Amino acid sequence: MNQLTYQLNNGNHIPRLGFGTWESLEEEGYNAVSTALETGYRHIDTAAAYKNEIVVGRAIKDSGVPREEIFLTTKLWNSERGYDKTLAAFQNALVNLGTDYLDLYLIHWPANKKQYDNWKEINADTWRAFEKLFQEGKIKNIGVSNFLPHHLEALMETAKILPCINQIEHHPGYMQQKTVDFCKNHDILVEAWSPLGRGNVLKNETITGIAEKYGKTPAQICIRWNLQLDLLPLPKSVTPERIKSNFEVFDFEISEADMERISSLPEIGFTGLNPDEVDF
Ligand code: A2P
Repeated sequence: MNQLTYQLNNGNHIPRLGFGTWESLEEEGYNAVSTALETGYRHIDTAAAYKNEIVVGRAIKDSGVPREEIFLTTKLWNSERGYDKTLAAFQNALVNLGTDYLDLYLIHWPANKKQYDNWKEINADTWRAFEKLFQEGKIKNIGVSNFLPHHLEALMETAKILPCINQIEHHPGYMQQKTVDFCKNHDILVEAWSPLGRGNVLKNETITGIAEKYGKTPAQICIRWNLQLDLLPLPKSVTPERIKSNFEVFDFEISEADMERISSLPEIGFTGLNPDEVDF
């Protein structure tokens, strides 16, 4: 396996490994994205909620890497759901990022039934705006994040275009197997946010033992494990050596037995963010 791409259900391609930017703010965020692009990452993941779209856009511009060589994702925040508000939020994202198109726009979290009786309608209205922007060519790919199977099923009742991606929390010790299986059955690529469990998985003895065996870091094992499951990991770091080493995951293979050992770990590192329960 090398740093190639996955093909999405709309025929487009996406680099297999992305760079996460949650909590990477201001100068630190700028430097992290700059280092990632120097290292060779060509897929950058941000969100309106991360409050770093401006520095991410600036780092991309200053990198000298042509815009069309970079796959850029951002996400619609929860306060901007609905048809008209989504269209306005999208324009704002373009201005912040200093670009005239997005490679991928995601609904960051589904409206859920804990907060809204009409959650289905809210998600459907938001999605209609996504479809319009996709049809106009302003967003190359449209998807969702943190959608559980019942959120996807509801969306599919009215969607004209199927989401091509669902970005969910996924790392050793938190696999969300039902959601992953649902997405695979519908040809929706799963992206893994916090593939390192926000760093909390890296001290697990099974992970450190396997890392030692392969002469790799625990983070490289978590990233590679996601790739071998045909998922798309988005590791986040602001530390130059980690940004670089997290990218060196295409020169080794985890055996089937070790994949199984990692997949069998009990729950570790779950953030506690259940899309049906969150109240933001
Ligand atoms: P930092 O940004 O200070 O380098 P996740 O991507 O699962 O959300 O994990 C991100 C967390 O893991 C951050 O705290 C990040 O720290 C840390 N991290 C990222 N890469 C590594 C690595 N190779 N080794 C140890 N910790 C890492």
